[in-house]
Amino acid sequence: MKKYNIIFYDCVDSTNLEAKRNSQMEDRTVFTAVTQTGGRGRLGRKWFSDENGLWMSVLLKPDISPAQCSFVTLVAGLAVCGVIENSGIKWPNDIVLGSKKVCGILTEMSSSAEKLNYIVCGIGINLNNESFPDELSNIATSLYLETGGKTDREMFLNRFLSEFEFYYSRFVENGFSCLADEYRKKCITLGKDVTIIRGDNSYPAIAVDINENGELIVETENGTETVLSGEVSVRGIFGYV
Ligand code: BTN
Repeated sequence: MKKYNIIFYDCVDSTNLEAKRNSQMEDRTVFTAVTQTGGRGRLGRKWFSDENGLWMSVLLKPDISPAQCSFVTLVAGLAVCGVIENSGIKWPNDIVLGSKKVCGILTEMSSSAEKLNYIVCGIGINLNNESFPDELSNIATSLYLETGGKTDREMFLNRFLSEFEFYYSRFVENGFSCLADEYRKKCITLGKDVTIIRGDNSYPAIAVDINENGELIVETENGTETVLSGEVSVRGIFGYV
């Protein structure tokens, strides 16, 4: 396996920000912190980051185009699923266990129009939380709450990196198409009635497929639509999944 250089912190604002501040460092550098004071989620949300989780960001410098960057989220999702038995992926970037979210992924990049400078793939996994703040308890869960066992952060990190390398190296060498079938199998969103939430606008749809660009294909009352990961939230009609 290619070498990952791991940097451990007690506390940072956000491991994604720390990775970006250190983007001159080598490919496959991992920034991980016990707690984050300003953990960041998708669509500008905050990410709850107390001492019970694994918060990490992987700095990557692959020779791919900026357009392919969003695949790294899907690759990381497959890797987390490889470590957490019985988990599934809620497209594009939530890992679900039971019927709640156990992990979120926030991939960011720096690029010019055609040249990618670097990618920061941030992954947050709720490991040992015994409870969550009220506003999260309907959607968030932890490995502990689902399995009854506590998980060692470093052991999880090492297992994750070995799964990540497995999928990531295939993606960089052969493109996402070689992983698409496996992603479809793990994706619990497919076949579900969902609500597409675009800003203030929301409407019902059925999720039918993931295309070769990693985008979600949905059927709506106005026909087939392609949903890009950066722009929407997808919710099940009865709740989070
Ligand atoms: C989401 O589901 O909205 C994405 C959450 C991503 C959280 C992780 S925790 C490690 C890294 N640092 C951050 O500030 N965010 C990501």
